[in-house]
Amino acid sequence: METVIELRGVHFRYDPDAWVLEGIDLSIGSAEYVVVGGANGSGKSTLGYLLNGLIPHFVEGELSGNVIVAGHDTRDLAVVDLAAQVGLVLQNPEAQLFNATVAEDIAFGLESFGGEAALIDEKVIEVAASLHIEHLLERAPDGLSGGEKRLAAIASVLALEPSVVVLDEPFAELDWEGVALVRGRLRNLHRAGKTIILIEQRLQSAIEEATRCIILEDGRVLFDGTPAKGKEIFAAKQLIVSYPQRVPRMVPNDPPILSAHNLCRQMDGETILKEVSLEIRRGESVALIGRNGAGKTSLIKHFNALLKPCSGSVVLFGENTRAKRTSELAAYVGLSFQNPHDQFFKLRVDQELRVGASMHKGVDDEWIDRVLHIFKLGGLLDRSPFRLSEGEKKRVALASIFAAQPPMVVLDEPTVNQDGYFRRALVRFLAKLEEFGFTLIIVTHDLEFARAATDRWILLEAGEVIADGSPRAVSEKLHALPGQPTVDHTQWTSREGHTLGKAQLG
Ligand SMILES: Nc1ncnc2c1ncn2[C@@H]1O[C@H](COP(=O)(O)OP(=O)(O)OP(=O)(O)O)[C@@H](O)[C@H]1O
Ligand SMILES: [Mg+2]
Repeated sequence: METVIELRGVHFRYDPDAWVLEGIDLSIGSAEYVVVGGANGSGKSTLGYLLNGLIPHFVEGELSGNVIVAGHDTRDLAVVDLAAQVGLVLQNPEAQLFNATVAEDIAFGLESFGGEAALIDEKVIEVAASLHIEHLLERAPDGLSGGEKRLAAIASVLALEPSVVVLDEPFAELDWEGVALVRGRLRNLHRAGKTIILIEQRLQSAIEEATRCIILEDGRVLFDGTPAKGKEIFAAKQLIVSYPQRVPRMVPNDPPILSAHNLCRQMDGETILKEVSLEIRRGESVALIGRNGAGKTSLIKHFNALLKPCSGSVVLFGENTRAKRTSELAAYVGLSFQNPHDQFFKLRVDQELRVGASMHKGVDDEWIDRVLHIFKLGGLLDRSPFRLSEGEKKRVALASIFAAQPPMVVLDEPTVNQDGYFRRALVRFLAKLEEFGFTLIIVTHDLEFARAATDRWILLEAGEVIADGSPRAVSEKLHALPGQPTVDHTQWTSREGHTLGKAQLG
């Protein structure tokens, strides 16, 4: 097997105070399928930047050692030559999409290779078709759903047909069909002789196709070997999550604190939400599920008046949101965005955590310290929230919502980019909040998490609520949709479980 990438004694740091990668030696051969795992902040994305030359060509920092791609040190290779060898799908798809349309984004790299216009157009359509996104080609990336952006970013890299494809958590935010589609594409590319390097948190499924597994820990290679052995190490490190069994909770039959009545929403002439009616009572924990582009994020933006219905109404804590500003509702509803970047105001983590909390009387330092502890943010307080790993950013964004203690918490994809350890910690934390009467609304594609954290599921399909009820009932409906996964119903039936002591919050 021919070596395509070699790292020799690689150290890298963004800031002078600490090395992020500390002595990486790796050799990756052609036609390997490598899955790279590790906790949040262990250095996975940084490794990705090294492979396609973002480090040292674009990302600032200090690099020592050598990264050799196709026989040349990446320092000596022009970025365009590197791009032909190694394509990187970034962890944050928004960073990869900067043109006016999806078609232009996919064509962008091909144009920099100097291809013929007609051939480029053909290639753009072919790649879009292979990822089922032809209908998005003329859309602006800004207006796409999270999953749609992800597919567009993957398409923009695959269009270049690099010999090595590196993907940094490409399945995050994808629905089940999208996951199957991308996995299938990677399998085919591998069979066709390409090298695949897949950075992934959910190793259970990803690992099946891999020929090799690398696990990073604190910037070093902890393990490099077979996927089967890698899986064992992953489990031992609690990076494969096993959730506590959920005990369904009864909530008092009070009047709803949120009710949407025939909510409709149009954008650019398209109907995004169609006569959505639902009621949520205090203390409920609800998962909002559905395919990419079904309207989940648009719907929850109506729950804190970021969006107003085109027709119909949303009544929140007894008041119609039509005449309300989001800032007036901040004491009642905390909404954590899908992309943490959209949420940050401050340049230091400790300040960011107090943005919401400072507006509320009654939030004390002790509470904020507890949140910090649970979200493991103690070591990041003086850092910029914009200069963290993606998982760390998401954690800061979530913690800043909880720090403010709004009685209703709305979370958009909270487990994306989170390692197994934290996903489990989040389930525990949410259970504790439920005990205190908080209301939780969670948009997620992560059904295992939804099963562990919520008692009611609402399924959106093409802007309509098509099922609303117990997870078991809704999953049957979900299963009936084309391309949906089978859900193991035996898991719902057991009531054995597990209550959390107060001590576990501290
Ligand atoms: N732009 C940056 N500036 C300074 N430090 C950074 C920057 N990006 C990442 N870091 C730090 O480098 C370390 C490794 O980050 P990296 O993004 O490579 O981790 P990761 O394994 O990809 O994590 P995640 O699972 O959260 O995506 C972390 O401690 C992180 O805080
Ligand atoms: Mg990362």
